Amino acid sequence: MTLFESVFAGNDAVYGLTEGAINQAIEKYGADKAVSFPDTAYSLPCYYAVTGTKVGTLAELKDALAVVKTLMTREKRTNDVFMSGVATALCAEFIEVLKYIDGAVPYEAPCYGHLADAVIRELGVPLVTGDIPGVAVILGKAPSAQEAADLVKSYQSQGILITLVGDVIDQLEEVGYKTGANVRVIPLGKDVTAVIHVVSVALRAALIFGNVKPGDAATLMDYTMKRVPAFVNAFAPLNDVIVACGAGAIALGFPVITNQEDVARVPKSLICQKDISKWNATSLEARDIKIKITNIDIPVAFASAFEGEIIRRKDMQVEFDGSRVDCAELVHTCEPSEVEDHKITVVGPEVDDMELGSKNSIAYVVKVAGKNMQPDFEPVIERKFHNYINCIEGVYHTGQRDMQRIRISKDAFAAGFKIKHIGEVLYTQVKNEFDAVVDKCEVIIYTDPAECTRIRHEVAIPIFEKRDDRLNTLTDESVDVYYSCILCQAFSPSHVCVVTPERLGLCGAVSWLDAKATNELDPNGPCQVITKERPIDENLGSYEDVDEAVKKFSQGALEHVTLYSIMQDPMTSCGCFECICGIEPFSNGVVIANREYAGMTPLGMTFSEMASMTGGGVQTPGFMGHGKHFISSKKFMKAEGGIERIVWMPKELKEFVAERLNNTAKELYGIDNFTDMIGDETIATDPETLVGFLTEKGHPALALDPMM
Ligand code: SF4
Ligand code: NI
Ligand code: NI
Repeated sequence: MTLFESVFAGNDAVYGLTEGAINQAIEKYGADKAVSFPDTAYSLPCYYAVTGTKVGTLAELKDALAVVKTLMTREKRTNDVFMSGVATALCAEFIEVLKYIDGAVPYEAPCYGHLADAVIRELGVPLVTGDIPGVAVILGKAPSAQEAADLVKSYQSQGILITLVGDVIDQLEEVGYKTGANVRVIPLGKDVTAVIHVVSVALRAALIFGNVKPGDAATLMDYTMKRVPAFVNAFAPLNDVIVACGAGAIALGFPVITNQEDVARVPKSLICQKDISKWNATSLEARDIKIKITNIDIPVAFASAFEGEIIRRKDMQVEFDGSRVDCAELVHTCEPSEVEDHKITVVGPEVDDMELGSKNSIAYVVKVAGKNMQPDFEPVIERKFHNYINCIEGVYHTGQRDMQRIRISKDAFAAGFKIKHIGEVLYTQVKNEFDAVVDKCEVIIYTDPAECTRIRHEVAIPIFEKRDDRLNTLTDESVDVYYSCILCQAFSPSHVCVVTPERLGLCGAVSWLDAKATNELDPNGPCQVITKERPIDENLGSYEDVDEAVKKFSQGALEHVTLYSIMQDPMTSCGCFECICGIEPFSNGVVIANREYAGMTPLGMTFSEMASMTGGGVQTPGFMGHGKHFISSKKFMKAEGGIERIVWMPKELKEFVAERLNNTAKELYGIDNFTDMIGDETIATDPETLVGFLTEKGHPALALDPMM
């Protein structure tokens, strides 16, 4: 069979199955039955992205199938093959959504099936920074379970996100391979149609980050081709259905690598490589993916894929816990003569000397020196420790400053992992990432309890206090420049964050100090200086300088941006905001939802639905993405009255911001315990109950002017 025949035959087969399944479902449930995937605002995301039409019922699904049929032309031209591939993918989406009827839970561990919008937003930042350099789709059954595991491990150790479809999932289970989103190995499902769940991620990324208009199929495919670094690894034997799905992948710009020999080859797109141990290299080359190589001399792997790994108590050798004993982590700027480069010292017992399962003290001081080093960069470097230590296979890190917690697994210990290797990791990464400011670096790790107490109380805490004082005096008025950040343009081509001392980037990861350090490290990089010499309106936070910068960095897509208003020219969102706030008209206030909150808000929308109102680098007055720490800022919606507009937040978020928010409310308006006046999901998830509660508490928003 030729490639054409194969794709057409596969497409016809899947179409037939889909038609049968839809008719059967209509017979069983009636045509008005609702169909949807959970936790997405893009109802039938693939079909919506390609056609611009949302599907909500079985009847609409049947109409949609008729539209799909029009893509299934049978000329022997390349475009017909691609479109038949896309049609196959859409049919797969229809078959999959039928599995979710009536809130059914069709997938069980380890399989994930459909992935929520929140998962895609979480992928935004790491894909942008190259932390996730690519997405592998592995499909079918490997010649042996070991080969499957080796292939997956090769990608995992490069930080590549791996999705699995078919028998390979059982093969990994057979050899006890750990899977899960936290280690970036995601089994989707065992039927080939489950492949649509990764396609759905790619297409929603285009809608969320790229501001691609649903229905603009040409732009959509251009976006996935240029900006979603995915590829397919398909094990032989390939049947027509898999070949037809593969044509869909190729249409989106994702090359397919297979070990099937008699398959028609398409240069750079359909590649035969018989030797599976070469698939990694072949795939990266075909997709032009570059891997940042970090060679660190430690006995376990080091890769961003291990960042989310969790070590349970029963799997742990030892732990260190700053909440119980004295711990600290500190970057300390020294004179060059005080630092011996690459010297790593452990003061106190090594892991071998610690009792199995014991809780211990640890304090590490990373001494740095360099002519461009400034004490302002210390917290910026220090905050990366969490990420560095977490990337060690078998080591887990949470918290910061003197409250960090570290676990070393039994497996890592058995592989020979020692305390000194933490020093090796810190040294290598600091030198790698901060080479523009750090010329010399030395690490001293204390495990001796008395020394840890001394370091914590006499060295670290006084430094932390000094830093906090410095941060408190950093206001938008007290600095001469702001910074732009365009890191997210890899995904949101027209998005620009303007980062000021009192308004951090909406991802929550870029403060003014971070932006300043980024600019210093890479003067032509994502963070550029924005002067603030020509204010237009101080209350709105508008400046001619800011407008000019935003216009330049958005390539003309944006003309005006204010720093302090949600209504007038608000800042845009890329998609990786920690929180979203939106107007709640009945109370003259705003509701804030954070990404972790999955429930309903009084706006009648979930976080996902609110998120779909903004993003993609466009201005949407009334909705705004922002970082968690912005909530307690004196500049939060200052133009509309500030934080006294906040009427509702999820309880967890409220508790997270309470102390700072209450301080700000006291300072600005003289209100005590302001958070007690703010609703949450235990009080109300509808506007009527919320307004009742606010009235009872005398919430100040009720007396303010309406916002619209
Ligand atoms: Fe993206 Fe803005 Fe964060 Fe920069 S500050 S990484 S542009 S969200
Ligand atoms: Ni103490
Ligand atoms: Ni972003």
